[in-house]
Amino acid sequence: AHRYFRAVFLLLALTLFLLAGFLHLDIELFMPGQDTGPPVTSIMFLKTHKTASSTVLNILYRFAETHNLSVALPAGSHFHLGYPWLFLARYVEGVGQEGPGLQRRFSVMCNHLRFNPTEASGPAGSGWAGLVQGVQKVMPQNTFYFSIIRNPVSQLESAFTYYKGVVPAFRSAKSLDAFLASPHSYYKGSLSLQNAYARNNMWFDFGFDNNAPAEDSYVQARLAELEQHFQLVLIAEYFDESMVLLRHLLRWRLDDVVSFRLNMRSERTVARLAPETQERAKRWCALDWRLYQHFNRTFWARVQAELGPRRLSREVARLRARQRELAALCLLDSAPKNRSQITDRHLLPFQSGAADILGYNLRPDLDNETLRTCHRMAMPELQYMAHLYALQFPGKPPKNIGFLGK
Ligand SMILES: *[C@@H]1O[C@H](CO)[C@@H](O)[C@H](O)[C@H]1NC(C)=O
Ligand SMILES: *[C@@H]1O[C@H](CO)[C@@H](O)[C@H](O)[C@H]1NC(C)=O
Ligand SMILES: *[C@@H]1O[C@H](CO)[C@@H](O)[C@H](O)[C@H]1NC(C)=O
Ligand SMILES: *[C@@H]1O[C@H](CO)[C@@H](O)[C@H](O)[C@H]1NC(C)=O
Repeated sequence: AHRYFRAVFLLLALTLFLLAGFLHLDIELFMPGQDTGPPVTSIMFLKTHKTASSTVLNILYRFAETHNLSVALPAGSHFHLGYPWLFLARYVEGVGQEGPGLQRRFSVMCNHLRFNPTEASGPAGSGWAGLVQGVQKVMPQNTFYFSIIRNPVSQLESAFTYYKGVVPAFRSAKSLDAFLASPHSYYKGSLSLQNAYARNNMWFDFGFDNNAPAEDSYVQARLAELEQHFQLVLIAEYFDESMVLLRHLLRWRLDDVVSFRLNMRSERTVARLAPETQERAKRWCALDWRLYQHFNRTFWARVQAELGPRRLSREVARLRARQRELAALCLLDSAPKNRSQITDRHLLPFQSGAADILGYNLRPDLDNETLRTCHRMAMPELQYMAHLYALQFPGKPPKNIGFLGK
């Protein structure tokens, strides 16, 4: 009889399981596991350039602030963690003043830096070789490392518009088409640090040589190193899918990863590239192209393994619905605004080059609690960094956000 009941029970369980799949029910309800447990609170985000990373930064700043987590902020009056130089621990505020034998650690690190993980020597030929005081010196051992990358063609287009005036290689080029038609007449390797935005910028941000030839063995070796150091690399073209996967892996709440797009350009200042220019961009940024191809593949394999298509689309729909709800609640006209329309200067984003960077106006009738939530979501990155810096280091002179005046 015992055996009989077990068989019936198994049959019943199997039927339920199949029925659940058939009816599109939440199979994960029956199989918790990975989704349970405390949220991950040790996070290192490598903030790459022109990749929607400002929006990710806002998500991390908000999480840090609401959970009272320490953030590894740029020291003194700086706005970056040493970029474009390779990261050193002393670029972080509060490091180096702990006294002998102590090492200050932080929960969240997410400002611009050029990745340099460790004190130990990396393999010969990697950008990381032999440098002291890497990221691992200030982050706990169990830290979750992730980053985001974007199609290098649109990444380069965005960088060209944004850094036109500051990057030597871009300065005298009339357009990106002109630049890519004969890049070597504009791009001089000897100015390589200042020119990092002009070629394989993401490869550079990960700490590698952005002028290296894109040879197979070299590329494969560097990608293998990245796989070792980063648990996840997100894709800007699939931003919402990326946030769903991130939330799943970090076990965060939905509202933790809902965001308003920040540091976004107006349509007017986004250039349409000819097909020929696009092909040239892929060749000019061949290392970034290989990087993107690789992590676009691993991203979708991960989504498949962790969530599957049905759960993914359900979660993306939930995220978008909540985002629309918060936009309606917080934002005047639920829409982004240009610099001349933004009334609160605390919400005015930094402007650069020919890019017309958009921001938000909040609805005027919000209660205090809602206002705090909305304000955090709409706050541009420099203002938010200054705010966190003042909270964490009340005794230090505050960050001076020059462009706001006074
Ligand atoms: C936040 O953290 C700091 C130091 O890490 C601590 O002194 C402070 O009491 C904490 N505040 C809250 C509200 O938990
Ligand atoms: C990225 O991966 C998706 C899904 O496999 C694919 O549809 C898309 O074409 C890929 N993008 C590029 C630029 O290769
Ligand atoms: C901002 O938007 C308004 C309304 O669309 C437009 O009239 C104005 O020219 C824009 N200003 C800038 C600086 O782009
Ligand atoms: C809301 O904030 C304002 C300004 O900080 C304060 O004067 C007011 O008392 C607050 N209202 C409530 C209900 O907390």
